[in-house]
Amino acid sequence: MCGIVAYIGSKPALPILMNGLKRLEYRGYDSAGFSVLNSDNGKLETVKTAGKIKALENKAKEINAAGALGISHTRWATHGGPTDINAHPHLSADGKIAVVHNGVVENYAAVKKILEAEGVKFTSDTDTEVIAHWISRFYKGDLNEAVLEALQSLEGTFGLAVICQNEPDVLIGARRGSPLALGICENETFLTSDTSAVIEHTQKIVYLEDNDVVSIRRNGFTVQNIKGQPVSREMQRIEGDLEMAQKGDFPHFMLKEIFEQPEALRNCTRGRLILEEGNAKLAGLDNSLKELRSIDRIIITACGTSYYAAMVGECLIEEWAGIPVEVEYASEFRYRNPIIGTNTLVFTVSQSGETADTLAALKEAKQKGATVLSICNVVGSTIARASDGGVYLHAGAEIGIASTKAFTAQVVVLSMIALLLGRQRRLSHENGIEIANAIDSLPCLVEQTLKLSDDILAIAKSYYKSTNFLYLGRHYHYPVAMEGALKLKEISYIHAEGYPAAEIKHGPIALIDENMPVVIVAPKDALFNKVVSNARSIKSHGGKLIVVTTANCSPIDEFADHIIRIPSTNTALMPVIASVPLQLLAYHIAVLRGNDVDTPRNLTKSVMVE
Ligand code: M6R
Repeated sequence: MCGIVAYIGSKPALPILMNGLKRLEYRGYDSAGFSVLNSDNGKLETVKTAGKIKALENKAKEINAAGALGISHTRWATHGGPTDINAHPHLSADGKIAVVHNGVVENYAAVKKILEAEGVKFTSDTDTEVIAHWISRFYKGDLNEAVLEALQSLEGTFGLAVICQNEPDVLIGARRGSPLALGICENETFLTSDTSAVIEHTQKIVYLEDNDVVSIRRNGFTVQNIKGQPVSREMQRIEGDLEMAQKGDFPHFMLKEIFEQPEALRNCTRGRLILEEGNAKLAGLDNSLKELRSIDRIIITACGTSYYAAMVGECLIEEWAGIPVEVEYASEFRYRNPIIGTNTLVFTVSQSGETADTLAALKEAKQKGATVLSICNVVGSTIARASDGGVYLHAGAEIGIASTKAFTAQVVVLSMIALLLGRQRRLSHENGIEIANAIDSLPCLVEQTLKLSDDILAIAKSYYKSTNFLYLGRHYHYPVAMEGALKLKEISYIHAEGYPAAEIKHGPIALIDENMPVVIVAPKDALFNKVVSNARSIKSHGGKLIVVTTANCSPIDEFADHIIRIPSTNTALMPVIASVPLQLLAYHIAVLRGNDVDTPRNLTKSVMVE
């Protein structure tokens, strides 16, 4: 997804912008560019290209871009294809104003018409070019004023960074519906859409709110709302350090993040389990404890992997707390006119905290008067800040586009919420102690499971050329099967479907033949014997069976093609363990196919468009 890095200070801007853009590569992009104010001739030097940052670096060698003010961007094409011309920055017709933009200008066609009637010639197919010309139209020597005036009539979403060659000491930023934050250092300031681009320079961050316009100078900044009235925004310290954003000895971020899960889960549960009371203490829910006692229905809304974590959460909350739960795709929820009663609580789940559909679902729920609590990984993200409370994952930065440690951490957070709600209702002290201890021991069990990586690589070698996969599971493991299939699709580009195991006899069994690998998630639980029957029927139709189980010496050993034996814990918490081999299987298959697992084609880390 598009990313912005801008700089004003006393150091050469270009290397800082390039490093920042590299830190944003994980988000996915198809072109990149920058404008730097050349301190030798006072002109803007702009370089942009389709393709990777490496190509931009090579192109940048051809120009002299010395200067301590600049803006840069990674673009994921929305309006207009991924070409050199459509890449950002976009310039005003006189070349004096440069703009980078995340988001979508919804009324760009109408604005473009006005500009064309006034004689402006457009060079790109983007909505962003409209912004550059529109700001220039209002420019009378004060860039801040021109941006404020231009934004009055632009509809849609934006995170903007703007510079003007007439004003070498000013960097302007603006935000509506697309994140933007300042990174503060002495005598230099960064403006970015993603704080991971600036953590190597500073942990002092000021998050902008919607409709903020910031005017940054070398010695400070001022924030106004879109009407030009001053507003104050607090500085915060962000978590994380540079090491978290680097691969270390791992060949890919995804593998690093899979292996980081024990640590991520330890951080996620640290200080939150009260083992002796058999309960969980989640600071972000402290203010809502009374309200939580009186809710009689929960809606959880999310997208993608977070949606599958929510599905596991549904099983956990219903099982332990006895509260009916509905899980909804945020993209559907936002337009469905959902019914939200007075005792209905809404949760959103989002790793990034920036997913447009999830944010819109949150706003719709709040509009209807619901209390909305959120489960996010990225501290200070838009969804986290727009919520009435919630729980951070503390899983550490997740860079790989395919979500792994965030998924297991989401399930663990949901399990702690289910425990807390359960202890307010039907879970006894004894039940609570058993569950709290089981949650506490998950990091160790994940550690043991990771030792299976080489065995799973061997299985991957047998199937990496397959064109289809089926993933099956029941109850808690139906969402695990769906998530396993999503992981495989995303990074290997193999078609995969997740299905409730018992449902395949109602249709999908017709797909089974010797070319169909079927991954069955079958821990030894109450449904185990039934899943064994499902597996037997797949085998009898010639399917290749890869079974993930805790069972030793069960009938399944006799007919499965491969067994992945995982450690066992409380049945309801098994999804945390069982999803790890599926992550590894997808990873090894994708690597064997020669794919770029960290930035798979067509995908971005946070989907900030509808
Ligand atoms: O940041 P979010 O959790 O809101 O993102 C939701 C989905 O876009 C995300 O989970 C997506 O499906 C991932 N690529 C899954 O690996």
